[in-house]
Amino acid sequence: MPVSNKLKAFAAALFIVQAFSVFGVPRGQLQVGFYSQTCPAAESIVRIAVQNAFSNDQQIAARLLRLFFHDCFVEGCDGSILLDNGSDGERSARGNAGLAGFEVIENVKTQLEATCPGLVSCADIVALAARDAVVLSDGPPYEVPTGRRDGRVSSISLAANLPDVDDSIELLKSKFREKGLTDHDLVLLSGGKGDSDPAINSQLLPQLQAKCPSNGDVDVRLPLDWTSEFKFDDQIFRNIKNGFAVIASDARLCDDKNTNKILDSYISFARSSNIGPSFKADFAEAMVRMGNIGVKTGSEGEIRQVCISIN
Ligand code: HEM
Repeated sequence: MPVSNKLKAFAAALFIVQAFSVFGVPRGQLQVGFYSQTCPAAESIVRIAVQNAFSNDQQIAARLLRLFFHDCFVEGCDGSILLDNGSDGERSARGNAGLAGFEVIENVKTQLEATCPGLVSCADIVALAARDAVVLSDGPPYEVPTGRRDGRVSSISLAANLPDVDDSIELLKSKFREKGLTDHDLVLLSGGKGDSDPAINSQLLPQLQAKCPSNGDVDVRLPLDWTSEFKFDDQIFRNIKNGFAVIASDARLCDDKNTNKILDSYISFARSSNIGPSFKADFAEAMVRMGNIGVKTGSEGEIRQVCISIN
C-alpha cells in the first residue's frame, strides 16, 4: 500500500477510535446469552426476583428502569450507581435523589453468587432487571446483550452532569449525544417515565398538588404518566403534547422542532392508519443502545461479590 494510503487508513482508524471514546460507544463487545454456558440460570433468576418484587409493589418496575438509566449515564453501565460509599459517592448526587430498587438487585446478586459465584456482574443484573420491569409493565420483550463488568469508581462529582429537569432541550440533547444517543433516543427513553413544571397544564397542577404529602415526605411518588400509570404505552407522549407533562424536561421535548416531530410520529393518531413507527419496538432498541454506553468488558473492571461495594 502506498505511504499516503497507509496514512489515510491510519487517520481513519484513529478517527474511529476517537469517535468511539468521545461518544462513549463501547470498546468491548456485549453479546446476547453471554451467560448461557457459564451460568444458564442467570437470566431466569433475575426474572423471577423481579416478578416477585413486582407482585409485592408494582412501582418497583419504574424504579428499576430509572436505576438502569442512572447507572448508564455515569461512568457507563457498570453498576457504579449500586456502590454505597457515603456522602461522597455517586448515589448521593442531587440528580440521583429518589432512586430505589437497590435491594432487588442485591437480592438477585446473593442468589447468583450462590448459584454461579464470581460470574455475573451487577451491571448486567441492572440491565436485565430493567428489561424484565419493562416487560411486566406491558412493554416490549427484547434480548439484552450481556457481558458487562463492574466498575470500581463511585464519586459524587462524576454524577454532576446527569440530565436535569431544569435543562433546556439543547442541553438535554447534547447530554444524550455525549453518550452516543440521538434525539430519537431522548424522546423514546423519556417515554419510559415529578417536579411541578412551570409550563404545566393549569388543570393538572392542583390535582398533583393535592396528592403531595403535606409532611414533605420525598418518598411519596406521583405517577409520571398521569393517565395510565403502571402500564407501558405511548400515553405519556400524548400527555406531554397536551401540556400534562409532570416533569419539566418532558415538556421541553415540545420546544425543539426535531424532538417535537419525533413525539408526533409516535402519537397514536399518526399511527391510526398503520403509518408511522412503533413506539414499543423502537423503545426496545433505544434501551439496548443505552445499555451499551461506556461498558467495561473483557479484563476491564471486575465481577463484584456484592453490589454495594467493590471487591
Ligand atoms: C431526559 C432526562 C431525564 C430527566 C431530567 C429525568 C428526571 C426524572 C425525575 C426528576 C424523576 C422523578 C424522580 C422522583 O420521583 O424523585 C424521574 C423519574 C423517572 N425517570 Fe426520569 N428523567 C430523564 C430521563 C429518563 C430516562 C432516559 C429514563 C429511562 C429510560 C427515565 C426513567 C424514569 C422512571 C421510570 C421514573 C419513575 C421512577 C419512580 O417512579 O421511582 N428517565 N425522572
